Amino acid sequence: MQFNKQFMSVLLGAALTLPNLAQAAAAVDTERLINADQEPGNWLAHGRDYTEQRFSPLKQINKQTVADLGLSWSYGFDSTRGLEATPLVIDGTMYVTGSWNVVYAFDAVTGELKWRFDPKIDRGAVGPKLCCDAVNRGVAAWQGKLYTGTLDGRLIALDAETGQPLWSTQTTDNDQYYSITGAPRIVKGKVMIGNGGAEFGVRGYFSAYDADSGKMLWRFYTVPDDPAKETNPVLIEASKTWAGEWWKLGGGGTAWDSMAYDPELDLLYVGIGNGSPWNREIRSNGEGDNLFLSSIVAVRPDTGEYVWHYQTTPGEEWDYTATQHMILADLEVDGNPRKVLMQAPKNGFFYVLDRVTGEFISGENYVAVNWADGIDPTTGRPNIKPEAHYSSAGKPFLAQPSPFGGHNWQPMSFNPNTGLVYFPTREMAFPYIADEQYQVKSMTVNLGVSLLGASLPEDPAVRKAVKAATKGRLVAWDPVAQKEAWGVDMPVPWNGGTLSTAGGLVFQGNGQGRLVAYDAASGEPLWSYHGQTGMVAPPISYSVNGEQYIAIMAGWGGAVPLVVGPLVSEALTTNTNRLLVFKLGGKATLPELKVTAKALNPPSATATAETVAEGKAVYHIYCSSCHGDSAVSGGVLPDLRYASQHSFDYWEDIVVNGLKKGNGMAAFGSVLSVEQADAIKAYVIKRANDELAAQKAKQ
Ligand code: HEC
Repeated sequence: MQFNKQFMSVLLGAALTLPNLAQAAAAVDTERLINADQEPGNWLAHGRDYTEQRFSPLKQINKQTVADLGLSWSYGFDSTRGLEATPLVIDGTMYVTGSWNVVYAFDAVTGELKWRFDPKIDRGAVGPKLCCDAVNRGVAAWQGKLYTGTLDGRLIALDAETGQPLWSTQTTDNDQYYSITGAPRIVKGKVMIGNGGAEFGVRGYFSAYDADSGKMLWRFYTVPDDPAKETNPVLIEASKTWAGEWWKLGGGGTAWDSMAYDPELDLLYVGIGNGSPWNREIRSNGEGDNLFLSSIVAVRPDTGEYVWHYQTTPGEEWDYTATQHMILADLEVDGNPRKVLMQAPKNGFFYVLDRVTGEFISGENYVAVNWADGIDPTTGRPNIKPEAHYSSAGKPFLAQPSPFGGHNWQPMSFNPNTGLVYFPTREMAFPYIADEQYQVKSMTVNLGVSLLGASLPEDPAVRKAVKAATKGRLVAWDPVAQKEAWGVDMPVPWNGGTLSTAGGLVFQGNGQGRLVAYDAASGEPLWSYHGQTGMVAPPISYSVNGEQYIAIMAGWGGAVPLVVGPLVSEALTTNTNRLLVFKLGGKATLPELKVTAKALNPPSATATAETVAEGKAVYHIYCSSCHGDSAVSGGVLPDLRYASQHSFDYWEDIVVNGLKKGNGMAAFGSVLSVEQADAIKAYVIKRANDELAAQKAKQ
């Protein structure tokens, strides 16, 4: 603290006065953000500082002392949806976002709630616009304000002291299926924010807003408009990589998560998402690279002016987003110091790029990859196998990685002392089957890929085999050698982001409900804590009054548990959402975990096979993305097989009329007839009775 204040005063040439804490929080300005790394006690920005290394210089908690780490305080949230946020800690106050965009401020030492802000999302209306849970990844801070992007596309500025909203700007067209889940970044008084929705037929962009007024300053579209209308020379050039009438389908390319900034080069890097629809035959006549899908784009933060791009997956049609976390570091490559940008996008390759020019330096696969034979070192292009292009090849392709990615949004961390990057990976395959009956639908994803076709076969033996081939792993990657230094297998394929510390530790929460500290050099687990719920968010570290803390948003959620329940049965899905904060000698405890086995008590299955088949088909269009493939939930939303008699009785009211819309279960009456809703019910009842029979057979 003392050091920082002096340091800042010198830096700003200001008189050395020690402001009180409130004023200090107010003083997060450009200089402080640029030098965020030199405030060991604070976590001022999403990735800790602009490099997004997520490396804490604190070392009170280290290999020797970590055994004494214990819970200091916790806070229980009133939601059971996903938690993915990185907390910020500014001079003793912690700011986090929970599910449905509720923002909280805590005293970082005592855990006392200072304020809570609920932007009151219309959950029934917004629910179906979310591909991957009602999550948010965090706030940004600047000059006494906090900034948060909401699931309904608002960018809101809050008074950091009181939580009162100061301004709110709608950044998206609410008639379309846009949503914001990412954390804003602040560069020189501008709030940078993108959005998601590329599963639903939108056109991607990211924008800068004036941090004081909320006025939009510039916008960068990632997909060209109709060439008859497009005026931006960069996008006119990009349109040469597209074919057909992509603009009518949106095109995708949403910037829904990662950004990094290099103040010296004055470049803002933004990770760009997948195509919409996924299927390139439908999207672009099966042709072209489709810029800037699956690319990293570097722009000038003052103007949004394009500087360079690197496309990780040209012509992408596998949901291989390049929105995954980016880390900036200075590495020695072949004896030369290089300013690099590192990313492990969904497509399975770990990239090291020159962040000055965008030039490809190296890339190797960090999980099994079968859609491409490596990357051509001279062009930096992947050698894509023709058969991987399922939409034009005319037959399904069983691809590795899956659309959930070899690595997803879960942040990586970089430890400059070990030179390693730590991130959670996933071995998983997915059958891409072109949807021959494609037509744009509302209230559901529009992929051009058949989710019914991709749904797991009902044969238990096949399911067992698929599950055995699906694994999670914590990987320590050497970016210079481009190979794994060590790795730890995990039974659950969906685990948390990482934190690295100068204490020689890597912290990660996992799908089995444990927060674990590993030796950063060897991967040896040194400490763990049972957090009573699967964890996916990244931990952080901070200090106040000379004491170091580790904090994590503990809660189960996100894409994998929503969509592929059958593959996460080893996960701890009780979903007791909490903020957990640890320190050496911490003695706080959690109330005992009570898990009550749910009763499987379905009505008897009386419907015809034809009705069940129809129900199955409609279920995998409108329901599986939340309630899980083949009606098996991954523990975030209700497993419909276990629905109460009451829910079966009121099925039409719930499904067609929106009886539960206040909790995010929309009314599907605009797209489903009562007969279709009943057919889905028949399918769910059939699945429930199958499960009942299987359970009885085991007894
Ligand atoms: C966007 C996500 C989403 C989609 C898509 C979705 N649901 Fe839901 N559903 C929910 C949520 C959230 C709840 C929990 C509501 C609550 O807690 O009151 C729920 C609850 C339910 C319930 C009550 C379950 C119980 O245990 O009481 C039923 C029945 C249901 N959904 C059926 C369906 C059907 C049928 C479909 C497809 C037509 C569907 N849902 C699609 C989010 C979704």
